Amino acid sequence: MSETFTPIRTLDARYYTDPEVFRIEQDGLLARTWQFAGHVSQLQKPGDYFAFDVAGQSLFCVRDREGAIRAFYNVCQHRAHEVVRGEGQAGLIVCPYHAWTYELTGALRSGPNIKAVPGFDRGEICLTSVNVEEFCGFLFVNLDPYARPMDEWFPAARRELSAFIPHHGSEARGMGGNSGKLQLEGLGRKLFRMLPLKAQPSDFCQRRGQAGNL
Ligand code: FES
Repeated sequence: MSETFTPIRTLDARYYTDPEVFRIEQDGLLARTWQFAGHVSQLQKPGDYFAFDVAGQSLFCVRDREGAIRAFYNVCQHRAHEVVRGEGQAGLIVCPYHAWTYELTGALRSGPNIKAVPGFDRGEICLTSVNVEEFCGFLFVNLDPYARPMDEWFPAARRELSAFIPHHGSEARGMGGNSGKLQLEGLGRKLFRMLPLKAQPSDFCQRRGQAGNL
């Protein structure tokens, strides 16, 4: 008896190129789930910041004076100019357009002529915050203001990863980016050994049409 194969189809090409599919993915998936932002080693000192994009939105992370990591939309509350670019270190966040100045907490500190505006209450103005979590040294953000914590999304994952790399976060903070890189490489090797695909790669790659899913 000859062996028969049931053809397995890959996704239609349009799922990779259709702007409408991309929009649905951004709004329905990327903007509602925890997405990778960076690593704690990028924010070692108060005032360290870095900008990044998630779901088409410009965001940035910063470590405030109390040591807390915060994330904000990278949008000035005045005329919506981006407030930071790339990465760096700053005692205050100063919008380059009209110099509105924010504390590292996101609160508006000052701005040219704001005292001349009747009724203007700077205490009501703050950069728009985004949920951010440190997860085993990695930083994740979630644009959904009602997002559940990562430990609810991924029960036990923090404990299992910490068992593989006990010093992931603290060493990266104290010793610089190279330590974080070494930790990541170590994690990658350990996870690779765990992956079921590694055992029989040919099962997944040999048949024409399936390799596209890898
Ligand atoms: S847009 Fe930022 S200060 Fe005007």
